[in-house]
Amino acid sequence: MPAATQHLTATPADIDRAAALLRDGELVSFPTETVYGLGADARKGESVAAIYEAKGRPSFNPLIVHLAEVSIAKTYVDWSDTADQLAHSFWPGPLTLVLPLRQGHSLSPLVTAGLPTVALRVPAHPTAQKLLATFGGPVAAPSANPSGRISPTTAQHVLSGLDGRIAAVVDDGPCNVGLESTIIGLQGDKAVLLRAGGLPSEEIEAVLGYSLALPETNSITAPGQLTSHYAPNGAVRLNATCAKKGELMLGFGPIKGVLNLSENGDLIEAAANLFGHLHQLDKMGGPIAVAPIPMHGLGRAINDRLNRAAAPRD
Ligand code: TXA
Ligand code: MG
Repeated sequence: MPAATQHLTATPADIDRAAALLRDGELVSFPTETVYGLGADARKGESVAAIYEAKGRPSFNPLIVHLAEVSIAKTYVDWSDTADQLAHSFWPGPLTLVLPLRQGHSLSPLVTAGLPTVALRVPAHPTAQKLLATFGGPVAAPSANPSGRISPTTAQHVLSGLDGRIAAVVDDGPCNVGLESTIIGLQGDKAVLLRAGGLPSEEIEAVLGYSLALPETNSITAPGQLTSHYAPNGAVRLNATCAKKGELMLGFGPIKGVLNLSENGDLIEAAANLFGHLHQLDKMGGPIAVAPIPMHGLGRAINDRLNRAAAPRD
């Protein structure tokens, strides 16, 4: 276990250093357009196991494998017309595809938690792209936060949760989407929504020409979608129109608060601010009340994360 976490930047020399650490089997956090990931070589069982240890994840949930290009994805999975359509429309970008693993693939079984499928993503963030291209292999990466806590959208968030537990963080400022990727699985050749996320489902539906079935109605499940997640220290109350005594209000649109997700009621801005604002309110301490967020566009993913932040905890 490394003593101190190296704080790297997005310079070519630091990207080389980060890639070398990954080759040595170490854990490196890096920015994507959604959230900061906690990366390890997806072919090395010990390195993947170290991700679970650093996060304090209670069980081996399957992880997303990050790749530099669409063409590489086809070497790991059985490709299909739907996969091709979605990959060409939305990769690189905030979309993850769960697809059947090909025989003879080189990924550690820990990455997929022994499932016959694997979650793949080609991120759009230029620094993630450079790191993946320089490393030259598949990188398994969950969000770089201790298990169950708020996801990180800055390198400071990563360090506040994992300093001393990981080899390095590549700091390239805040993530512009701010919510984890949308996860799509396949039932036959039909796409189903496994997790709402940074790519609005309406955009995916426009490409597919049909409505996505919701996770509850699927036979495929997204394991690891624990109910309580993204939890700040204080209790969270949703759909609040004003704060009760002692509560810190997180506003949206005209509903004012200590912080506002988007004064203009812009859901893209609200998504980008969500985790950062929760981190800030968490530092101030005390229970949090959150204004109602509409259920369209990125609002679906924002409400999903808020519901988990407000869920009863063990
Ligand atoms: O934006 C993101 O997706 C970020 C960045 C770092 O890429 N990553 C992320 O990873 O959110 P994580 O580990 O927090 O979430 C991965 C989720 C798992 O909880 C699980 O639900 C789903 O992906 N998943 C992974 N493999 C799967 C599989 N074979 N079948 C179904 N769901 C799977
Ligand atoms: Mg996560």
